[in-house]
Parts: sequence; C-alpha cells; structure tokens
Amino acid sequence: MERPAILNSRHLLGVAGLSIAEITALMDLAEEYVALSRQREKKTNLLRGRTQINLFFEPSTRTQSSFELAGKRLGADVMNMSVKGSSVSKGETLLDTAVTLNAMNPDLLVIRHQHSGAAELLAQKVSCAVINAGDGWHEHPTQALLDALTIRRHKGKLENVVVAICGDIRHSRVARSNIILLSRMGARVRIVGPGPLLPPSAERLGVEVFHSLEEGLRGADVVMMLRLQRERMDGAFIPSEREYYRFWGLNEERLRLAKEDAIVMHPGPMNRGVEIDSSVADGPRSVIREQVEMGVAVRMAVLDALARNLEREAAA
Ligand code: NCD
Repeated sequence: MERPAILNSRHLLGVAGLSIAEITALMDLAEEYVALSRQREKKTNLLRGRTQINLFFEPSTRTQSSFELAGKRLGADVMNMSVKGSSVSKGETLLDTAVTLNAMNPDLLVIRHQHSGAAELLAQKVSCAVINAGDGWHEHPTQALLDALTIRRHKGKLENVVVAICGDIRHSRVARSNIILLSRMGARVRIVGPGPLLPPSAERLGVEVFHSLEEGLRGADVVMMLRLQRERMDGAFIPSEREYYRFWGLNEERLRLAKEDAIVMHPGPMNRGVEIDSSVADGPRSVIREQVEMGVAVRMAVLDALARNLEREAAA
C-alpha cells in the first residue's frame, strides 16, 4: 500500500521551503518513531534495499550518529564517509567526491559541509535525495525540526510559545533554521545576545531583539542556548570567555527570570561554564538529552518521507 506523501520536495535542503502542513506531518511521523525507538525491537524494513551515505566534512557527534541510527532503524544500508582519510584531504573537490559517490547508486545522501549552499550544489549534481545536515552558517533543517518537536512535546503547541534563542546567533545555522521554522509555526521568537554576535539585519528576521540576557529571558517559555562558534569567527568577537560567562552565561539565578515552567535547550556541543552553567545543563528544566532522542526520531521521519517520494518517482 502506498503511504501518503509528507514532503513536496525531493531533497531537504532547509526549512525555508517547508509549509506548516509539511512541518506538522514530519513531527507527527517522528512521534511514531519516538515510540518505536523506545521498544525492544527498534527496527522496521521500510528502507530495506536503500543505501544511505553520510558525508561529513565537519566534525559531528550527535548529528552524524543519529542519522546513522535513523537509517539503520529503518532498515537501510548506511555508510559513513568521514573526510579525514578520504581523498578530500588529498584535494578532491566537493563535486568530484559527490560524483564518485553518486556512481555507487546511493538513494539518500546526508551532507554536512562548512560552506553555505553546499547541500544545494550537491543536490544539482547527484541523482539521489539530498539531506542538509548543516551547511556553513546557512541551515540545519533537522535540528530545527527536532527542536520544534521537543518544544511541542513540552508546551503542547508551538503557537504563541515565547522562545528566547541566546548567544552566538550570528554564526549559527541552528538559530537561522529555528527562527524560520518557529516563526512559521506561530511561535514568538526572541534573539538575545551581544551586538557583535547578532546577525547584521536582525530586525528584518521578524524576531524581537534583546541586548541583555536578563531582559530576553523574562517571561520566556523556552530558553535555547548556543555555543560560541569560534571556528566561524574571523577576529575578536568577545573579550574573553570569563567575561562572556559573566554577562551571557545561563545560571540558575538568571533562569528564574523565565517562566516557572520554562524548558532549557541546547543543540550541543555545550561549553559548560561559558554559555551555560552545569547546574542548569543538568538541572530539572533541561531537556537537552531529550533533544538528542528526538533527533533520531526526526531523522527517521525525514528519511522515510524522502524515501516515499523516491517510490513515487519510480512508480510514475
Ligand atoms: C550544531 C551545528 O553543528 O550546527 N550542532 C549540532 O548539529 N547539534 C551547533 C554547533 O556546532 O554549535
């Protein structure tokens, strides 16, 4: 029996192109995979016979391992290509690597790359479905989807939920994708950080901008902390980590400014004692570990949705 289509597009390159219906359907499907992943038997065979390649040009813990588990739980054959030890370190270009991998007939290609637009470029050159697992400062669609799912599970909805995204927004693809997706779903998004770490045209993003952590936290339902992404900074953006923590680190006292039932999120990797205190990261309001669990389920939903489209294409 043909299963209903969930995504209109062949690839998942960003959240910018997703409709409310698509986002909702992906979250609903992910809920089914949360349930499956909590069972003794975690595997289906929906992707049996399919080949998934994970091509990671940047370091990753959570994203790569969850894409791997997601593919395996759906029954696909999953191959991880890490760039260290591959021909990329010998100077091969992204496109040459892509064309080589494409010749091995993968069905799904997951890519993380340091350049914005890399996933889109790849999608034009290969014949399989491409999933963006983070491209430069641009987008990280599955992170935004898993964050939205985590929020929906705690707040029951996304509409009118006040989400304070705090820290290094400027260099963060997680922030960009979250701003787009959460705004589309009707959440009230705030960005909170020191001027140099906010995007140049912050006001145009349709969010509320705060230059003080205390102000930004007041009345928030969700507090999302971000790491200082030093690898993307050219120059000195902050005086020192100690100084940064003093003004922008989330501790228990500051968290009390948010709503009483506010949840604390972080996409990882965390820098404890820089943007977040351990007592908060490991405290009762933290849903950081749940985000990781949702990550596997959301990636299963995305892989499933794209594989459905491949079936349709083949049948047409
Ligand atoms: C993020 C990323 O790579 O964009 N990590 C992740 O995927 N969970 C955030 C970061 O690197 O700080």
